Amino acid sequence: MADGNIVHVVGTGTIGEPLIGLLCDARDDLGIDEVTFYKHSPNLIDRPKIKALVNRGANLAIAEEKTKEFQDLGIESTYDAEEAIRRASVVIDCTPKGTGLMNKEKYYNKYKNKIKGFLAQGSEFGFGKMYAAGINDEAITAKDQFIHVVSCNTHNIAVIIKTLGMEKKKNHMKEGRFVCIRRANDISQDKSFVPAPQVDKHKDEKMGTHHAVDVYHLYKTLGIDINVFSSSLKINTQYMHCIWYDVKLDKKMTKEEALQKFIENPYVAVTHKTSSNTVFSFGREHGHYGRILDQTVIVIPTIHVINDTEVVGFCFTPQDGNSILSSITIAERFLYPDSYNEKLRCLGAFLLQEV
Ligand SMILES: NC(=O)c1ccc[n+]([C@@H]2O[C@H](COP(=O)([O-])OP(=O)(O)OC[C@H]3O[C@@H](n4cnc5c(N)ncnc54)[C@H](OP(=O)(O)O)[C@@H]3O)[C@@H](O)[C@H]2O)c1
Repeated sequence: MADGNIVHVVGTGTIGEPLIGLLCDARDDLGIDEVTFYKHSPNLIDRPKIKALVNRGANLAIAEEKTKEFQDLGIESTYDAEEAIRRASVVIDCTPKGTGLMNKEKYYNKYKNKIKGFLAQGSEFGFGKMYAAGINDEAITAKDQFIHVVSCNTHNIAVIIKTLGMEKKKNHMKEGRFVCIRRANDISQDKSFVPAPQVDKHKDEKMGTHHAVDVYHLYKTLGIDINVFSSSLKINTQYMHCIWYDVKLDKKMTKEEALQKFIENPYVAVTHKTSSNTVFSFGREHGHYGRILDQTVIVIPTIHVINDTEVVGFCFTPQDGNSILSSITIAERFLYPDSYNEKLRCLGAFLLQEV
């Protein structure tokens, strides 16, 4: 570890780019001395992104063998890829499925005696202990150096279960069913758009899609066994994911009580808006570069109670915001184990109560 608190982000995609930007903007409040980032592919299209991130205060790292290619684009780096990892206090891996595990094998394990903590994102099952801010903070101990920040829809399902079904560590949810209606791709992406709704297979015999499997394992870190099942499909939109939830409880709950619980959870925003574009657009005006950091946006007019004990409704997933908040929360916890909550206050403006 070199001088001061250095946060190094590997990857500049849908998650990496806004994360680097927010870390730079809130650097002083978060008590970070330097933000560094690794850019994998030298290409012309990404040149303005690299320059913009450097202008916001982040230092670039690249693979040494690609120096000439980056120089040909007029981009000078500050660090070599491995050097940037070696000097970091915390490394946040934001690469596609499998790459984080590969990086762990190749680099992170090598420096784990020097670096405080490593994080990987949604697709990196097996990277470390699963985590979502506000859900399983007490499950994270000083021994947990590798953390897997769960995916955006896992955050959303987890917070619905927590809000409606959990009282302290007591689980009142008898059964939870979730349908993840996913946006085809992000507005930052050209690839993987779908022309019409496309449904997913139920790969897990007991729990359906990976969303329920992930949330099951997330609660398992607290020693809680939940009965959960999910289905998913992609629809031809680039706006937010939407989730239909159906939570059966072992006790009575009215619509008003369910709403009150959602309102009281600081990680939840509620809305009277019923379209993802108007929610997304509100984020564009009032979020950090368009992103709100809540784990879910609950659609108030859809909250419905069946037989006094089953709460049903729709919500939208702030797809990158919730992962970014959990990533910064756990990074700050590595840097400031005794005072991270105070440092995180600067992000409160983007954790909206109502949209
Ligand atoms: N997209 C979301 O809304 C979302 C939400 C929650 C969680 N996540 C999770 O976040 C992770 C990243 O997803 P994403 O959507 O941000 O992906 P993405 O947009 O495809 O970006 C991936 C980034 O990884 C870099 N990369 C690719 N191969 C690499 C390698 N071998 N070594 C180092 N860097 C490499 C790419 O660099 P180049 O472009 O320079 O090649 C790119 O910057 C995934 O685990 C995903 O499940 C995503």
